[in-house]
Amino acid sequence: MSGRFLSLEGIDGAGKTTHLEALERRWRSQHADVVRTREPGGTPLAEKLREMVLHDAMDPLCESLLVFAGRRDHLATVIEPALARGAWVLCDRFTDATFAYQGGGRGFDLAVLGQLESWVQQGRQPDLTLWFDLPPAIAAQRLAAARQPDRFEAMDQAFFERVQAGYRARAEAQPQRFVRIDADQRVEAVAAQLQSELSRRGWW
Ligand code: TYD
Repeated sequence: MSGRFLSLEGIDGAGKTTHLEALERRWRSQHADVVRTREPGGTPLAEKLREMVLHDAMDPLCESLLVFAGRRDHLATVIEPALARGAWVLCDRFTDATFAYQGGGRGFDLAVLGQLESWVQQGRQPDLTLWFDLPPAIAAQRLAAARQPDRFEAMDQAFFERVQAGYRARAEAQPQRFVRIDADQRVEAVAAQLQSELSRRGWW
């Protein structure tokens, strides 16, 4: 038995949380075993690492190592066992975020990230990735109204332009895995696009 693994991605403010919740409700109405999780985080150890990554000053190598350390624990103790028993796994961010934020945003070495990815994931990737694509200028307006920002949310628009470019590069390199959602629409229109893309693939 093998389950399904879907990740959601996008810059801060792209609006994925609203749609993640709708998707989770939909899946729970259809499937007995649904696992909703997130990165950084998803296990007690990885949640501790998340706190550090989001709030403590560190360089991009340190940031990348902590993110991948958490990912290792998350894969070994949550995601792989869930997929092995046939669960539908919904993950709020995964490795594409590392390529976008540490690689694109921070300008960290993509070859090193690729090495960490292959050590930690042993070829495992989400089966499908929803990328909420929103212009950084619009995301910035949405974020301005948000709560106390973490280390990433506090970054300027130029940073998010680089993160955005990082996502675009990953999506272009792995088009079979990525579904681009135009997040620059009313929430109902975004939901409708998401639903039709997922229905077409047997994921809704
Ligand atoms: P986010 O998923 O937006 O959580 P919340 O909705 O609670 O704010 O926050 C996670 C932040 O971590 C986000 O700014 C992106 C960043 N991040 C990385 O820098 N690298 C990674 O590998 C991952 C998974 C996330």
